[in-house]
Amino acid sequence: MQKLTHIVLDCDPGHDDATAIMLAANNPRIVLDAVTTVAGNQTLPKTTLNACRVLQWIGRTGIPVYAGCPGPFVRDPVIAGDIHGETGLDGPVFPECTKLPEQKHAVLFLIEHLRGSEEPVTVVTTGPMTNLAMALRLAPDISSRIGRIVLMGGSVGNGNVTPAAEFNMLADPEAARICFSSGVPLVMVGLDVTRKVLCYPEIVERMRKIGSCASDLFAALMSHFCKTQKEVFGYDGGPLHDPVTVAYLTDPSVLTLKDCRIEVDTTGGPSYGRTNCDVFGYAKKKPNAKAALDIDASRFWDLIEECFRRYL
Ligand code: RIB
Ligand code: CA
Repeated sequence: MQKLTHIVLDCDPGHDDATAIMLAANNPRIVLDAVTTVAGNQTLPKTTLNACRVLQWIGRTGIPVYAGCPGPFVRDPVIAGDIHGETGLDGPVFPECTKLPEQKHAVLFLIEHLRGSEEPVTVVTTGPMTNLAMALRLAPDISSRIGRIVLMGGSVGNGNVTPAAEFNMLADPEAARICFSSGVPLVMVGLDVTRKVLCYPEIVERMRKIGSCASDLFAALMSHFCKTQKEVFGYDGGPLHDPVTVAYLTDPSVLTLKDCRIEVDTTGGPSYGRTNCDVFGYAKKKPNAKAALDIDASRFWDLIEECFRRYL
């Protein structure tokens, strides 16, 4: 029997974050210890409410939600309302949310949870890395208690907010830099692979036909997410960024990774927030991460379908 991976999912729901929550909350390989939230796709109150809404929708109200930082370390806050809408989860009609977040701040929860866990915990981040960075600054000892950081963010190639930078990195470059230089084993799931899992209409239909609470929510989420991705980027399907992190933890064979040195540009110029991935080792610096270079898209969608069927 393979040992289960305990994770904390730090996120900014967000349509793709919501799908990552569903994939982690009912998973044969993963125990979702908690969800922590950060400002990013929307403001912190909205991302926190959205995390509670999703867990209530899928019947997992026992999984605690902790609200974290309302903005980045240094730069002015950025919000991705153009993609995720005014609520951060436009599309579905949610019932009144009776699940409340915990009182404790996410950063304090992270520190206490990591210090108190028997086994190292995997921290998955699918939003700006402010909470994790703040925890690492407040309690550097936790770096030995984190098994791995698996993050959605960055790119070997182009960004998606500027030519250089991807949203989660650009939303808090200083926080990302702290995490990339923490010495904790890190897997970067960037746009290079997430742009290869576009949620085309036939994929939405494939999932909608399952008829579980999770697939119903997914179909409603995608009705908005795919529309705005078409408007902003011209994609015929929305790139399902965040669940790739959890899919990797479910079946590592879904990604092709390469050890490399990755450094986040915090110089503040036109490449501010860029993840400079030295995939060829030009600088001869010790690798600090594994960068995802390719994805088995067919396997990924099978993992999503299997997940939604588990909710029947
Ligand atoms: O650039 C894509 C990332 O930014 C995803 O995590 C999406 O949810 C947004 O947070
Ligand atoms: Ca996100």
